Amino acid sequence: MSNYETILVEKDAAGTKGVTLITLNRPKALNALNSVVLTELIAAFAEYQADDSQLCAVLTGSGEKAFAAGADIKEMSEKAAADFYLDDFFSPWTSEIVKKTRKPWIAAVNGFALGGGCELAMMADFIIASDNAKFGQPEIKLGVAPGMGGSQRLTRAIGKSKAMEMCLTGRMMSAEEAERANLVARVVPQADLLADTLKTAGTIASMPPMAAIANKEMVNSAFESSLDQGLIMERRIFQILTASEDKAEGMAAFIEKREGQWKGR
Ligand code: CAA
Repeated sequence: MSNYETILVEKDAAGTKGVTLITLNRPKALNALNSVVLTELIAAFAEYQADDSQLCAVLTGSGEKAFAAGADIKEMSEKAAADFYLDDFFSPWTSEIVKKTRKPWIAAVNGFALGGGCELAMMADFIIASDNAKFGQPEIKLGVAPGMGGSQRLTRAIGKSKAMEMCLTGRMMSAEEAERANLVARVVPQADLLADTLKTAGTIASMPPMAAIANKEMVNSAFESSLDQGLIMERRIFQILTASEDKAEGMAAFIEKREGQWKGR
């Protein structure tokens, strides 16, 4: 499926082998996340996950102003509490996108990442931000609170004090502050954001694919388990990887001083 209305999808983006670029494409609404965006992102991530030729994805926003300015306020203003509750509103962002995308993906945050936009960026494996990026959880100003993980993922990323301040005041955080607070991996000039992120994604796509999934799974488990459970899980996955063809190839390639040729198993 590639006839999308609210997103753009490009495989081997800008000639970067193995990298799928997904672009939120509602620039007039600052890429606000409505239910069509959600449905299309679920399909695009499923397509990425299923395509063995694509090994890393990048999610960004169209236009120079916003990654995404949040869940679509106009759409939400028309819903009743019962609709939100009965539909378990916002649930598929985690259950359909985060949990089902085992391959790596990066958020390239190119401007406002507010509310659901900040929360969507935090669902990625890591964030690279442009120097004009702004992060925030301003839901309180709308009489609500984060609903796509902001109170949980932001707190885990930057700690209680800063997360609490952001949620209670709704203030925005600059890219520079976000880097200091460990919310983002790196900040780059806006003009370089896409090229830089695609290059990083290309590096990941050149790695042994099964090892990439395993590394992602291990780091994520640090958020879900005790240290003991996490360490056991890490050792078991490491031990399983040693049975892979790519382990034999990777170690032989090192010893023979050549590039590895990966099979993905
Ligand atoms: N939903 C729907 N439309 C939005 C939107 C949103 N979250 N954010 C911006 N837009 C629309 C505006 O309504 C406007 O459309 P019109 O031209 O049709 O009026 C267009 O995008 C441009 O926006 P502005 O004119 O407001 O642009 P600005 O440069 O003056 O301000 C901004 C930029 C500070 C980001 C401002 O748009 C803003 O505050 N947006 C809302 C941010 C927000 O509150 N996000 C949280 C939403 S709730 C949420 O996400 C819940 C959750 O936890 C998942």
